[in-house]
Amino acid sequence: MTIPYLSEDALSFAPELSVIIPTLNERDNLVPLLDLLDKALTGLAWEAIIVDDDSHDGTPELARRLAANRSNLRVIQRIGRGGLASACTEGMMASVAPCFVILDADMQHDAFLIPLMLDVMKEGDTDIVVGSRHVSGGDMGEFAEHRKALSSLGTRLARMLLKVPLSDPMSGFFMVRADFFRAAVHRLSNIGFKILLDLVVSSPTPPRIVELPYIFGERAHGESKLSLRVALNYLELLADKTIGRLIPLRFVIFVMVGMLGVVLHLGALSLLFIRLAIPFYLSQMTATFFAMTVNFVLNNTITYRDRRLTGSAFVWGFLSFIAACGIGAAANFAVADMLFSHSVYWLAAGFLGAIVGSVWNYVVTSTFTWRNKAA
Ligand code: GDD
Ligand code: MN
Repeated sequence: MTIPYLSEDALSFAPELSVIIPTLNERDNLVPLLDLLDKALTGLAWEAIIVDDDSHDGTPELARRLAANRSNLRVIQRIGRGGLASACTEGMMASVAPCFVILDADMQHDAFLIPLMLDVMKEGDTDIVVGSRHVSGGDMGEFAEHRKALSSLGTRLARMLLKVPLSDPMSGFFMVRADFFRAAVHRLSNIGFKILLDLVVSSPTPPRIVELPYIFGERAHGESKLSLRVALNYLELLADKTIGRLIPLRFVIFVMVGMLGVVLHLGALSLLFIRLAIPFYLSQMTATFFAMTVNFVLNNTITYRDRRLTGSAFVWGFLSFIAACGIGAAANFAVADMLFSHSVYWLAAGFLGAIVGSVWNYVVTSTFTWRNKAA
């Protein structure tokens, strides 16, 4: 395969293939994995890029020690970030090779399939070669029954999004052409585990896909990182790829938290005013404060979990949240009252007021309360 920015006869240090290996606490797998790659990829000009998310078991330290002793291994240690998909993206963006393959560190993916994948790529009319467990010859291996069920549910959900046939959209084992990946990279959601699905759905042109069968092996050492959180991330990815195209997903979550706040407010109000017979204005004030506090905490832990405030930032954030929502409530009231006095139906006036208030709250709190430090 030619490398676009090098002439045919230039001396190239670029490998023909980068193997991107995401790691989270995979120390004991590194040495056997590299041994395996040395065997499986003999004769190819390949490199490996380990992208570690600050593992505490010594993975990044060992990876650097190994890299110091071989010229085809590089290490990226990310601090304060996480997620399999975004780790793979960063690894691929750090490579100059014309082709990447994503490979789990635990040897569940079949490294011996990689040369065959590269052969397909070299024919030149394929963008992605997927290692599939669901084409003839492939298999889920010793996957636990509940994981099989979960995986097939995920696959069915994914198929609703896909415009191209793909037997195993949940696969984490695939090869992609660099230029194809870069054309899609700004559109990726980078949420959770499923980078292949993300890539196929995000790409501006439909990918030309070839699937090759492989048998999912057993994890060599360590533990799986699949958790409830990873499952929720998957739903978030699906939501981002559907409604997220129209409205920011964060706004949807923000509004859902806000609606829960209304329910809590009314619940607290009835408890205080009806059950405990506390004067109305005091009950209403307490219920408002209660709902606002819960809303703030929920937004801080769910909606803005990637920018979570702690310590004194939490206190300042809370104050700015209350101030912003106070103004939002005034705007809501002003708009609804104006519409109502111009004989707009009460429900519509109330609804439009609530929309104006929510958008205000969202825009102001995302700019001030949960400011994106990276932007
Ligand atoms: N850098 C980084 N950051 N690496 C991660 C993270 C993370 O947050 N989470 C997991 N990894 C690494 C693991 O260390 C491992 O090398 C690889 O990603 C896969 O994680 P596993 O925990 O072994 O996942 P799995 O076996 O349950 O599922 C894998 O195989 C499935 C079938 O192909 C994943 O690749 C799934 O995406 C895939 O569907
Ligand atoms: Mn695994």
